Amino acid sequence: MTFRTLDDAPKDLGDLAGKTALVRVDFNVPMEDGRVTDDTRLRVALPTINKLRDAGAKVALLAHFDRPKGERVPSMSLKPVVEPLETLLGAPVRFAEDCVGDEAKAVLADLDPGGVVLLENVRFHKGEEKNDPAFAQQLADLGDLYVNDAFSAAHRAHASTEGVAHLIPAYAGESMRRELDALDAALGNPQKPVLGIVGGSKVSTKLDLLQNLVDKLDRLAIGGGMANTFLHAQGVDIGGSLCEKDLADTARAIMEEARAKGCELLLPVDVVVAQEIKPGVEAGVRALDRIAPEDKILDAGPETTARLKRAMDLSKTLIWNGPLGVFEVPPFDTATVEAARHAAELTKAGKLVAVAGGGDTVAALNHAGVSDDMTFVSTAGGAFLEWMEGKPLPGVEALKR
Ligand code: 3PG
Repeated sequence: MTFRTLDDAPKDLGDLAGKTALVRVDFNVPMEDGRVTDDTRLRVALPTINKLRDAGAKVALLAHFDRPKGERVPSMSLKPVVEPLETLLGAPVRFAEDCVGDEAKAVLADLDPGGVVLLENVRFHKGEEKNDPAFAQQLADLGDLYVNDAFSAAHRAHASTEGVAHLIPAYAGESMRRELDALDAALGNPQKPVLGIVGGSKVSTKLDLLQNLVDKLDRLAIGGGMANTFLHAQGVDIGGSLCEKDLADTARAIMEEARAKGCELLLPVDVVVAQEIKPGVEAGVRALDRIAPEDKILDAGPETTARLKRAMDLSKTLIWNGPLGVFEVPPFDTATVEAARHAAELTKAGKLVAVAGGGDTVAALNHAGVSDDMTFVSTAGGAFLEWMEGKPLPGVEALKR
């Protein structure tokens, strides 16, 4: 482990009782009408909060919500998070109307050891996204130690994710550590052979990712709308399907690169088509030379899914980002659900380390009912993708020894 973790804190700082831990969490949660509609990211933060409370530390939670761009936007307050967090923790959570200055200091001074306060949205201050050193210092002034438990915000070089880590002793929280360990097992230092599945609609958003993966993986399956661009680049007539035709050369270059690097690319060999995206619409399986002009490709076909399952059987590690079809609209969820269930079975049998994350992936695995059966499912979106692209994440780099 090359990161400072919470276990190192008592060695550096002695007894944590009464000390203030500034804990960066990611509470950028789905909200509707001022109510949290999915508390996954709150749950993710619990082990760190509880560990610090058990040690008698005061816990000051730092977080952002949405993109208020340095303005105090009332609809982007973190206040609605207090109640569900209290329920999950089974303890009171105080709220400070500002994340720095006298207001935050007063609430902290009044907090008992083991108490928890949620500080208002750090992005209400312009200095946050600018990583302004003076703002980072104002944050640092509140705590004795800094704990980053927000992997999903670690791709941002902001004051609360990066700047403050250089000003007071900084550690990776429990969920950050779990995430980094899982990512290392999937791509940093994986058991081979490694299979990647990359789906989603557009090649253009995943170019860096594909280029990095063909360099590292033994096999790479491409699915979703982005596979259409590859099929088109190979001369397949894809009818009325979604396709980024201007990226045909890029797709060919990626295929060439994969060949040169010995990464076997798995592209669809059959597809499921329909003429519109509507639940229960008449759908058909097509071989690649049988796609009609009015057909839209909306899922991978059964033979493609069978090949993907065989590729999983041959692999020790799976890294998965993006669905294989329009999984939100049955029956175009079939390939994604079947593949996810197969991965879950292999994982449960101890034959596969399966790590998934980014964008729609969590929703797709939840839809398949297998999120809990994978080795690790990341709640991160952009951060997971940037990590898959091989980019250093500023919030993680700042925690390195
Ligand atoms: C996320 O929800 O992916 C993170 O919290 C980052 O949010 P951002 O894209 O607004 O920086």
